[in-house]
Amino acid sequence: MSKTISIIIPTYNERDNIITLVKRIHGALSSYSYEIVFVDDNSSDGTAELASALSTEYPVRVIVRQNERGLASAVVHGLKHVEGQIVAVMDADLQHPPEVIPALLREIESGADIVVASRYVKEGACQDWGLIRRIMSKGGVFLAHLLLPSTRQINDPMSGFFMLNKQVVASVDLKPTGYKILLEILVVGQFRKVAEVPYTFGTRTSGESKLSARQQKDYLKHIYSLMKRKGELLRFAKFCLVGLSGVLVNTGLLWLLTEFAGFFYLLSAAIGIESSIISNFALNDFFTFHDRRSPGMKLFLGRLIKFNMVSLVGVAINMAILWLLTENLEVYYLLSNLCGIAAATLWNYFVNTWWTWK
Ligand code: GDD
Ligand code: MN
Repeated sequence: MSKTISIIIPTYNERDNIITLVKRIHGALSSYSYEIVFVDDNSSDGTAELASALSTEYPVRVIVRQNERGLASAVVHGLKHVEGQIVAVMDADLQHPPEVIPALLREIESGADIVVASRYVKEGACQDWGLIRRIMSKGGVFLAHLLLPSTRQINDPMSGFFMLNKQVVASVDLKPTGYKILLEILVVGQFRKVAEVPYTFGTRTSGESKLSARQQKDYLKHIYSLMKRKGELLRFAKFCLVGLSGVLVNTGLLWLLTEFAGFFYLLSAAIGIESSIISNFALNDFFTFHDRRSPGMKLFLGRLIKFNMVSLVGVAINMAILWLLTENLEVYYLLSNLCGIAAATLWNYFVNTWWTWK
């Protein structure tokens, strides 16, 4: 096993940054054996030529892709060509300070499989970010946490600055769309221990950011594709199916108890609602979330209580929307109710994935 640290740096028109970058990496890693692998997408500003020239003085290699574009796919390409067992990934524009690399390495040496340089842990930060960019970024993190449970243990799954043991990606098929290679790795990679190290995302002083609305759209596509690949879409479909079965239980009991047992219809309804919550819970526990339930009677009952509480709030949401739309917006009441059911289903699903079956 080679002790070399390989640093993959995707570049697209970064000529004015790479001399400083290479010098600072060298300063930070002078006591280590390392290599820098630039993956350049045929920049028109001479980035690749300058990087190649640097290789006479520093351990630098340059890979030029002629017909492809994309940050994440450039990193995947680089991963296939690195020599080291330990691999770091970072930007070329100095927004990722190379001086953080030794701290990442220490985490790997103490057993982490992936270490993320993070803006969203204590002492991490973003320099000069306006409110809008902050909100967009936090919103992106929230979406990832909401829709892809395996990213929840990392506060900054959108970071482009991280280190990993190559084993993590050795036998997985990485198919990222767009910018966020770490997201892909956190969802499909094979690892046990992850860690985060704070850093400050700096200001770009040379060259231009390639970030555009296109990347934001790609991010959503990427999340969708990961949900599909990891079975999270199927899970949601199962949850809806179970919900539908609950409607049958609910309506069936309302009818049976009122017609044949002579109960007052509101009492039958209350029994129907509670029974459907319990049957929904059992089906979800054994079917929808079978891979996420911990064994033991006590935990089972704990989940039942949580599910029950979430569902009762769900019923309140359903009623509130039914009332609001019907009374204030003059929507036909059956249509209002469908909107209420949709909102309550989303509420139930997400709160339960976050809390009941976390
Ligand atoms: N090879 C290649 N191909 N490299 C690219 C491409 C491409 O199509 N597009 C961008 N890069 C390189 C840039 O040259 C730079 O080294 C790095 O990828 C980041 O690009 P920027 O355009 O500077 O991205 P950013 O600053 O908006 O976004 C960064 O910050 C995010 C945190 O919010 C990226 O590093 C993200 O990975 C990071 O998560
Ligand atoms: Mn940048």
